[in-house]
Amino acid sequence: MKKRLGILISGRGSNLEAIADNIDAGRLEAQIALVIANTPRAAGLERARARGLKAECIRSRAMEREDYDRLLVERLRAERVELVCLAGFMRLLSAYFVEQFPQRILNIHPSLLPAFPGLEAQRQALEHGVRFSGCTVHFVDERLDAGPIVAQAAVPVLDGDDEAALAARILAQEHRIYSEAIALALGGDYRIEGRRVLRGG
Ligand code: GAR
Repeated sequence: MKKRLGILISGRGSNLEAIADNIDAGRLEAQIALVIANTPRAAGLERARARGLKAECIRSRAMEREDYDRLLVERLRAERVELVCLAGFMRLLSAYFVEQFPQRILNIHPSLLPAFPGLEAQRQALEHGVRFSGCTVHFVDERLDAGPIVAQAAVPVLDGDDEAALAARILAQEHRIYSEAIALALGGDYRIEGRRVLRGG
């Protein structure tokens, strides 16, 4: 049986599409059981539906964090989701949510964590003047952009870069490493020692 993914989004959904492309091409053994957006403005919702995926909006506006997370968990459980993938989901998860899916939640972030957590990571990297940035897939805990690192990819920051150019270079790597990290998390061939995710169970 293919393992069932739940993908949470807030925006355009290009990581979601890259995961779906890798599944369709047979490069990732999994199925997308459910896509949830926390805002109806998330363009990824339509992109998901256009390719036949079950995609729903559960609005987070004006809701208490844990109340909202209970709704999410209920839907994810109903769809028998085994791994939750945050793909541009711009909300912190409550301790309640994290406890429901221990080490079964991944997030992707557009920097080499622990550098530049939070919003506008690419702009932070440019302003800081780093010569390399990149992206990180990590297990999620209730802290912002923290949790053991599963995969990273580095890209150079070029002199002519603006935020859009750097973001595009990073995004190409996001689309590659997220599926690799999902495969590792689903396959279980790893162990966690402290903060380190080591290959081999
Ligand atoms: C991606 O660059 C992702 O790394 C970032 O949002 C973008 C979503 O793009 N996530 C964060 O900044 C989380 N802290 P997408 O909707 O096209 O996948």
